Amino acid sequence: MARKKIALIGAGNIGGTLAHLIGLKELGDVVLFDIAEGIPQGKALDIAQSTPIEGLNAAYSGANDYAAISGADVIIVTAGVPRKPGMSRDDLIGINAKVMSQVGQGIKQYAPNAFVICITNPLDAMVWVLREVSGLPHNKVVGMAGVLDSARFRYFLSEEFKVSVEDITAFVLGGHGDTMVPLARYSTVAGIPLPDLVKAGWTTQEKLDQIIQRTRDGGAEIVGLLKTGSAFYAPAAAAIQMAEAYLKDKRRVLPAAAWVKGQYGLDGIYVGVPVVIGAGGVEKIVEIELNAEEKTEFGKSVESVRGLIEKSKELMPK
Ligand code: APR
Repeated sequence: MARKKIALIGAGNIGGTLAHLIGLKELGDVVLFDIAEGIPQGKALDIAQSTPIEGLNAAYSGANDYAAISGADVIIVTAGVPRKPGMSRDDLIGINAKVMSQVGQGIKQYAPNAFVICITNPLDAMVWVLREVSGLPHNKVVGMAGVLDSARFRYFLSEEFKVSVEDITAFVLGGHGDTMVPLARYSTVAGIPLPDLVKAGWTTQEKLDQIIQRTRDGGAEIVGLLKTGSAFYAPAAAAIQMAEAYLKDKRRVLPAAAWVKGQYGLDGIYVGVPVVIGAGGVEKIVEIELNAEEKTEFGKSVESVRGLIEKSKELMPK
């Protein structure tokens, strides 16, 4: 069986980390694409030279021409600009909506059968632009946010409870921004929901609220520390989990920015919901029951995403 081809559009911090992880997991051959000349070629060569040491089989190449992504099975998009301290993800829309239009055209021309995972921010709106311009089926274009947001939530909870991150599942709904909705009721330690753990005295409601807020601000906390860019190790790991679910037909249940039409009473929008990812791409949107408060918060998040999509429409080249 021929190896899978994975194209990475954007060879910056996340792109380079993705390329390295794909090799370490032997998911397929990697093509790094970027507009910056030399960067994708240099990173490809550097990582390729690590393969004899790691004892892994994966081919690496770098390119500045979209023809190089031809026939890719999976495409992960990180092209664009990251934020600097004091910026919100939404501040990136002016530049990144135009970048997504270019990327969408490249995908349409050279890799219309790929499963596309977008990481570029503001996430939910950028996925919408990519799908719109590429014309791919909605179930083949998703955004990575929920896996990262819930991993941040899980990590903070593991520190609070002093238990393994492996035993914590967490649930985050809504857009990848300040309005995201970490759902305590659906987050558990070995199956025990967080509200029950508050009752049992494992933590206090106040501490849990602080953790939820820290999760919402998780990206900004890292931008504040790095100062020159945004998070890249955890975002890359999260996108790899989604790519692997598709390539290996795992049918994993993961939160992702997916096209929701009908479910949750929505009439067609990209927003973070739990989905099943397998060989068919997004095979199912998982609908869960929300209480009144959760519905209100999710509604606010959806409205904020809607606003960003409208803004993107104005910014996209005609
Ligand atoms: N086409 C292709 N690549 C582009 C384009 C374009 N039109 N414009 C910029 N790039 C490339 C840059 O040359 C750079 O190498 O995108 C890469 C982005 O890399 P970084 O600046 O290191 O950013 P990174 O940390 O990887 O984040 C990328 O993901 O999480 C989001 O908010 C983040 O939007 C940002 C994106």
